[in-house]
Amino acid sequence: MFDKKNSDISIIIPAGGSGERLKNFLNGENKQFSKINDKMILEIVIERLSKIIDFREFIIAFPSFFDENFEIESKKQYFLSKFPFLKIIPGGKTRAESVSFALDASDFCDGKVLVHDAVRPFFHKNSVKNLIEISKTKKNVILAVKSKDTIREFFENCSIKTLDREKIFLVQTPQIFDIQTLKKAYLYSKNNNFFPTDDAGALEYIGEKVFLCEGDYDNFKITTRADFVLAKIIINKNFTENL
Ligand code: C5P
Repeated sequence: MFDKKNSDISIIIPAGGSGERLKNFLNGENKQFSKINDKMILEIVIERLSKIIDFREFIIAFPSFFDENFEIESKKQYFLSKFPFLKIIPGGKTRAESVSFALDASDFCDGKVLVHDAVRPFFHKNSVKNLIEISKTKKNVILAVKSKDTIREFFENCSIKTLDREKIFLVQTPQIFDIQTLKKAYLYSKNNNFFPTDDAGALEYIGEKVFLCEGDYDNFKITTRADFVLAKIIINKNFTENL
């Protein structure tokens, strides 16, 4: 729900990836823009998130070359007409850079920012609400699930050790942060030539605590062919209505 007056949450979706791993399977289409039935994955994500969360601004980082690329430019126009509340900006070379560009484009320097991947459409409503609730007392909170598999460390194809599964969590989004602290973390990382793989990494780098909120296994990131096939089944069976 778009409620500039009452919300203190900015939403950022880094959607600037080129999805190289799936491109052949999707006939050259970026995965966030590929369609399941009649909707693009990013469209499903925006629809579901904007219904669940009261937000004050909603920023999306698109692939950086959209000015020169007719396809991406026309998608930008499509998204702006369907979701007039969006601010669409050019993304960066990495996910972290896309998030940091979106933070630069934010109109706010206090309150919260909720970051969510463009290709994770199956987040649970209750988990998102839980995450936001926890963020009222803890500055930085991320969704994660316990690893279902044994995690081993290898060196040159040789197993070195088994990690303690009880302590291993697979990180998901949405993640919610104090916007001022995240901006500071990205600035500090940039000034020190540190390249975090995600926002929590940037925060840890400046010594900030990042707390966990237990997520759901359904909330997978569409990365492989099998993920895409599974996503189709979930949508065709209308499972999203129960999430
Ligand atoms: O590539 P991967 O699936 O890990 O990307 C996770 C998220 O980060 C996706 O939403 C993707 O579009 C985004 N991303 C981005 N800018 C990049 C690379 C990835 O916004 N340069």
